[in-house]
Amino acid sequence: MNFILAPSILSADFLDLRSEIKAVEEAGAQYLHFDVMDGMFVPNISFGIPVLKCIKGNTNLKLDVHLMIEDPSRYFEKFKEAGAEILTVHVEAMKDARADLLKIKELGMIPSITLSPDTDVKEVFPYMDLVKQVLVMTVEPGAGAQPYIDKCTDKIKAIREEAVRRGLDIDVEVDGGINEKTIITAAKAGANVFVMGSSIFNGKPFESVKKYEEILKAEK
Ligand code: DX5
Ligand code: ZN
Repeated sequence: MNFILAPSILSADFLDLRSEIKAVEEAGAQYLHFDVMDGMFVPNISFGIPVLKCIKGNTNLKLDVHLMIEDPSRYFEKFKEAGAEILTVHVEAMKDARADLLKIKELGMIPSITLSPDTDVKEVFPYMDLVKQVLVMTVEPGAGAQPYIDKCTDKIKAIREEAVRRGLDIDVEVDGGINEKTIITAAKAGANVFVMGSSIFNGKPFESVKKYEEILKAEK
């Protein structure tokens, strides 16, 4: 399985974004996770299109955009223009998930669906044939540096088993509270893409990415 590290800039030093992004890129991370919050779908407001546009021109990391916003289809075109490559939308936030996921693909982005901790994993099963990635939230969306919610491990396992059962080539991404211990739990349950905010940016970003690459090498 191809393990992918996706540092989340929500926990980065916004006054030093250029060097923090450079550090994780040079250390070998493959994605940059970009958490968009609208204060409606989640009780927080983060950043958006102007910041993404600025980052797009300054990194080769794949921009893994996580929309924690109401009715996300309103902004698909704008995020495409701003440089989003993977676009993750919440099953709870869409009026017509099938139409929205088809639209994301039509716009040339990689469709990805996600579900919050209290959402039943079966809610995303009907859409798995339309996506390249399922993001399993392992914390309540809306903030970084929260503890991993143990009950979500079974959801990771259920998504991976469903993908295997249906012969779907899908990445299973996990997001929230991923650290030295929970990254192994999530990997063993079937995750292969790991979003990490505070575990990477609260320390030394370059060294942290290298550390997690080593941990994952041992899990292969
Ligand atoms: C939470 C975001 C996560 C968060 C992860 O709503 O979706 O991506 O930034 O942060 P950590 O890794 O610190 O839990
Ligand atoms: Zn996220």
